[in-house]
Amino acid sequence: MVTEPWWKSAVIYQIYPRSFCDSTGNGVGDLEGIINHLEHLSWLGVDAIWLSPVFTSPMVDHGYDVSNYCDIDPLFGDLDTFDRLVARCHEHGIRVILDWVPNHSSDQHPWFVDSRSSRDSAKRDWYIWRDGTPDSPPNNWQAEFPAGPAWAWDETTQAWYLHMFAPEQPDLNWANPEVREAMHATLRFWLDRGVDGFRMDVVHAIGKPDGLPDREQGPGQPLTEFDNAVTHDYLKDIRAVLDEYDGDRMAVGEVYLLDSFRVATYYGDNDELHLSFNFLPLWTRWEAEPWRKQIEVAIEAFDSIDAWTTWVLSNHDVPRHRSRYGGDERTARAAAVLLLCLRGTPFLYAGEELGLLDADVPPELSQDPAGKRDGCRAPIPWDSTETHGWVRPDNWLPFPPESETRNAETQHADPASMANLYREIITARRDSPALQLGSIELLPSPNGVLVFERRNGDDRRLVIVNMGNDQADISGLIDGWEVQLRTEAERDAPPDNHIPARCAEILRPSF
Ligand code: NOJ
Repeated sequence: MVTEPWWKSAVIYQIYPRSFCDSTGNGVGDLEGIINHLEHLSWLGVDAIWLSPVFTSPMVDHGYDVSNYCDIDPLFGDLDTFDRLVARCHEHGIRVILDWVPNHSSDQHPWFVDSRSSRDSAKRDWYIWRDGTPDSPPNNWQAEFPAGPAWAWDETTQAWYLHMFAPEQPDLNWANPEVREAMHATLRFWLDRGVDGFRMDVVHAIGKPDGLPDREQGPGQPLTEFDNAVTHDYLKDIRAVLDEYDGDRMAVGEVYLLDSFRVATYYGDNDELHLSFNFLPLWTRWEAEPWRKQIEVAIEAFDSIDAWTTWVLSNHDVPRHRSRYGGDERTARAAAVLLLCLRGTPFLYAGEELGLLDADVPPELSQDPAGKRDGCRAPIPWDSTETHGWVRPDNWLPFPPESETRNAETQHADPASMANLYREIITARRDSPALQLGSIELLPSPNGVLVFERRNGDDRRLVIVNMGNDQADISGLIDGWEVQLRTEAERDAPPDNHIPARCAEILRPSF
């Protein structure tokens, strides 16, 4: 019997370690803090955690600027604590995915320190240097942040280096085989320690456009929105490293291209990424028609090449989806059903299971080098005390709104809470081969409502998401089905054959 790899049926939970829980009193979350809350993850029923970077870093971009790919930053703990975290996770049946940052290192990485020390450095070609004069960058590329050119002038060697993100994040030169070998070695370091896979940061952009030509960059258009065929070769080599190991080690790419068909090419012929984020749905407004379109596109783009897609509504780079959708809790509850019942691997972002809103972070408290991602990075409130389960009440960022009542402890105890809803949906998913791995068929549905059927052998589920503000008539659609789970317990139950406004249901065959 062929069994599917674990990552197809998994629910994966992203932890932003700074924000999860502090165990030392420095106001920043750490690995021990994660170990202390594994019970919550086990209770919730997630299959894997993805840790945003925990490697040694000057923290200019909070870990996405790595100065040693093979160690843990002291802020988060050490290798022993990391090994203990992996062991404890595995005891709980939870896999561990690390966030690998291949596109750029920190400017404090010894490779870059060496590279910039002299034009004759053996590591000179490990980064992307161009000659020129200080008044005229080599091309018109604009960095993702802070606003300005994607080139920094180096006084010592009188040359420009490329940084698609902050100047402290110089781009590695993947065209150099020594760089590729060195980066493969960093993967093996963690694979040898038992990690189950990697989330790969802006991995589609490691192969730069030939000749680095000027580009048209519309307002808000990411600099990294390009493809180069050579990246597929690099990805095949990366995949081969993972394939040296047993246990279905997995690579999920942050392929930030807002086109599902282009994203799908990064799966190769099942010899590149195992999974890729597909960010178009994340940016789709909460309305049935645009969502229907995105689901159709995903089915066409991924199923047609036998690639397995992913679904994500929130992460550490964008406002939380409850905030994006206007703050309404009912909508966030319905969104949980959609996210967890579509065909593909769902990624949750820590705190969404509590229905957290973004924190209100005034500019003087902002920590983000891009100046706009603080709200979704607020500390997770664990209980209703003043410190919310952290050591101090004041941490690197303020707590999100409503933390007195909207915290893990309070929600565990309340059967109607958002956390219990996530747990119920995850349980329903785990018990249903159709929801985990089944086919998906979008069905005709009333305005404002999405209806789809999942099917796997004899197992079937019908999922109805009413995105509208009115209850909807679903008669004719639900003959032969009974409600297994509904996101709202209406005090006045809806009339037969209706679904309440901003509510979702999972149904199972009634016979
Ligand atoms: C994408 C990451 O998600 C983001 O947080 C980071 O700032 C950039 N890549 C640069 O590494």
